[in-house]
Amino acid sequence: EKGGYEHFMLKEIYEQPRAILDTFRGRLLSNEAIIKMAGIEDNMKRFLAADRIIIVACGTSWHAGLVAEYIFEDLARIPVEVEYASEFRYRNPVISEKDVVIAISQSGETADTLAAIKLARSKGAFVFGVCNVVGSSIARETDAGAYTHAGPEIGVASTKAFTTQITVLTLIALRLARAKGTISSSEFRQHLIELETIPNKVEEALQSDEAIKVIADIYKDSKNCLYLGRGFNFPVALEGALKLKEISYIHAEGYPAAEMKHGPIALIDEQMPVVVIATKTEHYEKVVSNIQEIKSRKGKIIGIVTKGDVSVRELADHVIEVPDTLESLSPLLTTIPLQLLSYHIAVMLGKNVDQPRNLAKSVTVE
Ligand code: F6R
Repeated sequence: EKGGYEHFMLKEIYEQPRAILDTFRGRLLSNEAIIKMAGIEDNMKRFLAADRIIIVACGTSWHAGLVAEYIFEDLARIPVEVEYASEFRYRNPVISEKDVVIAISQSGETADTLAAIKLARSKGAFVFGVCNVVGSSIARETDAGAYTHAGPEIGVASTKAFTTQITVLTLIALRLARAKGTISSSEFRQHLIELETIPNKVEEALQSDEAIKVIADIYKDSKNCLYLGRGFNFPVALEGALKLKEISYIHAEGYPAAEMKHGPIALIDEQMPVVVIATKTEHYEKVVSNIQEIKSRKGKIIGIVTKGDVSVRELADHVIEVPDTLESLSPLLTTIPLQLLSYHIAVMLGKNVDQPRNLAKSVTVE
């Protein structure tokens, strides 16, 4: 049942090229330059009339929502707010018939997310679900939706659900961007073509597995770990930290790289590994200077870089390469080494990777 893998988590990490392909297959038609998603087409008026989109979710799904915030705002120019479902539902949120709410949930059973959906619908908002489990409560309680086609996710730590959620949300953002005219037809086409190459690029990213194992062995006894990223990759830093804490029980925090100087930099010493997502992006030079700040305080740097990178390689203690892609799609690649790093550290520490202590696969209590 684990298909020859030692754990479900590892199997599911390795299934990502397939899961991402299955998620855009039949929806992304690059030859015709169209995206076909019935749940969006049928409700296009609601989406186009929305002044903003509110995303509600918990945990890893909330991180996918944060990535989507960057993508929606960048491509479709629609303001997005991302809310923890548990906070949203008890805050007496300002919400009306004009709002579109997107609820993201792998299991489709998360109690807080379900309650947030019910609240939003009671105020007249249109609620769209992004779920993995077909026929789940959230899939049934939403007005419309789009499934991720990740297949069953058994490992408690979410992996392929996250990357397929980002895939669906990217398709939605691109479809809305096209409808709104906020993206040119050539840019739109370029995104479709590039998205189609992602499964192969994830495959390539997975080839760093052995190198990541070596890094895992060096840092497995750390008490703390920081994860930094900017822009589209800031939420990836949060997700990397969550993955490490939930399966290895090492304390980890994710931050936007530029926030370091506002406090967390005080934590840096020679005992502190800092994982920095430093792929070739608009903010590359800024991230390089953030790395210099950490290095001058003797922090250990693990850089996630674009293939062929030179500048970060000179500064970092270790680099892990991922293939080049469009900045908006880069989270689909930068996530992969972070999953593998957490996985190997947890295995080396002898932890129960698939069923970490205190955690349940679906959180049906608030
Ligand atoms: C982390 C993880 C959790 C879930 C969260 C939401 O690896 O799995 O943080 O992401 O409990 O679950 P869903 O997506 O099923 O609503």
